[in-house]
Amino acid sequence: MRVLFLGDVLGRSGREAIYQRMPKLRAELGLDFVVVNGENAAGGFGITGKLCAEFYAAGVDCITGGNHSWDQREVMQYIPTDPKLLRPINFPPGTPGAGFNVYRDAKGRRILVLNVLCRLFMDALDDPFAAVAEVLDAHKLKRDCDFILIDVHGEATSEKQSVGHFADGRASMVVGSHSHVPTADGWILPGGTAYQTDAGMCGDYDSIIGMKKESAMQRFITKLPGERFTASEGEATLCGVFVESDDATGLATHIAPLRIGGRLAQAWPLSRPIAAVAE
Ligand SMILES: [Fe+2]
Ligand SMILES: [Fe+2]
Repeated sequence: MRVLFLGDVLGRSGREAIYQRMPKLRAELGLDFVVVNGENAAGGFGITGKLCAEFYAAGVDCITGGNHSWDQREVMQYIPTDPKLLRPINFPPGTPGAGFNVYRDAKGRRILVLNVLCRLFMDALDDPFAAVAEVLDAHKLKRDCDFILIDVHGEATSEKQSVGHFADGRASMVVGSHSHVPTADGWILPGGTAYQTDAGMCGDYDSIIGMKKESAMQRFITKLPGERFTASEGEATLCGVFVESDDATGLATHIAPLRIGGRLAQAWPLSRPIAAVAE
């Protein structure tokens, strides 16, 4: 299977890049399933049902969340109605929505997507490792699903790497979100799980992690509260991680970064588009 995960979509600039590029990306990469992290889709803060519908119309199959999942209050009523919108699994019992779900691609293959929140330098939630273990114990690759993707949403690279090794051999892909900066450590772990510490954001990089740089810098320089952060509006770089898996094992055979548009150095995960290979 070919799966693409796109990191935190930041405001209008990130959304529009996805709407414009996704149909072509799906074709050129031969994608079977696309997951995006949507915690910053609404002007940097949360997501709404209307934005979810726009993502699905563009060709997104599943949307994950993070510490910003609840920034738009209306989503608390919306999330139980939308099985394709996830929030981190380790919120306390009784939190609306789900932290994982199993989906099907066009060929009927089962994809489990799990969203988990780290604890270091973040508001502490329930134990992420116990939450991941519970799902992986109940859902084995090939027995119960054909592909398992874990979006590990966290600040500390060490904690995210620990989740990667913890799930190695039991998930197809563990990819980080939240830092809004792509890391260069994409590789296949010894047990066969594709891993990258952070996918990076889909947003304007001429910014401070997607927000207008002037007000964000001022807050560091002066230590005064300053004006409210607003999303930077320049052209977005779409940042993601592409993984190909072996249908016989559900484990990864290829991982590569994707970066297109905007400011960052560009990266295309295949040597040529699939369409060109077929010719
Ligand atoms: Fe984020
Ligand atoms: Fe976050």
